[in-house]
Amino acid sequence: MFITFEGLDGSGKTTQLKWLAAQLADAGYKDVLLTYEPGGSDGAKDIRKLLLDRPPELWDAREELLLYSAARHHHLRTLIQPALDRGAIVLCDRFFDSTAVYQGSAVGEAEAILASIRQLSIGGVVPDLTILLDLDERESMRRVAARGALNRLEQREAAFFARVRAGYLALAQAEPERFLRFDATQSEAALAQEIGQRVLAVLDARLQPR
Ligand code: TYD
Repeated sequence: MFITFEGLDGSGKTTQLKWLAAQLADAGYKDVLLTYEPGGSDGAKDIRKLLLDRPPELWDAREELLLYSAARHHHLRTLIQPALDRGAIVLCDRFFDSTAVYQGSAVGEAEAILASIRQLSIGGVVPDLTILLDLDERESMRRVAARGALNRLEQREAAFFARVRAGYLALAQAEPERFLRFDATQSEAALAQEIGQRVLAVLDARLQPR
């Protein structure tokens, strides 16, 4: 079972992923891998540094697309796929949908380019469930600013993040079976409870007894 978390920066993905891992452990699911992008595996972590720590003018949109995709290929090949093969539940903070919106719809990249990079980097792998933590761009920017110094990717304008949000909502609408959308402005505990209930209901229906 492959479960991904998506949403704007500051939507609480990382915190909620940890809550869900704890709830899965309580429910008796023993083999749960927590991972994240960009990063997760050693090679992908090296690429993360190239993406996040360099001056804003260094990479253009295509170069970013290729770097995220190279990182994802390594992450999938060396960490995610082996875990799925042994029957683990994998919880991943961001995956291809991030590329589809941040390097895709938000910057006007062609659908055909995205489809070919998708095929090249992940083949037919599709998450079983995607948790979308929905937040508007103003609240996202407010939360990110409150965390302190902004990295290069966080310094973009509101219009960009509005397009990211719209891109996510369009994906969720196109694949209602895969996406579970949540209001990320509610309290951390209330959100965790809602996510836990909905995910456990799906897992219990789809997976064999633990
Ligand atoms: P992340 O570490 O998840 O930061 P946050 O916790 O603030 O969401 O992601 C870092 C940035 O990388 C984030 O601004 C989104 C961006 N990103 C892409 O643009 N494309 C991608 O494919 C991925 C995985 C991330």
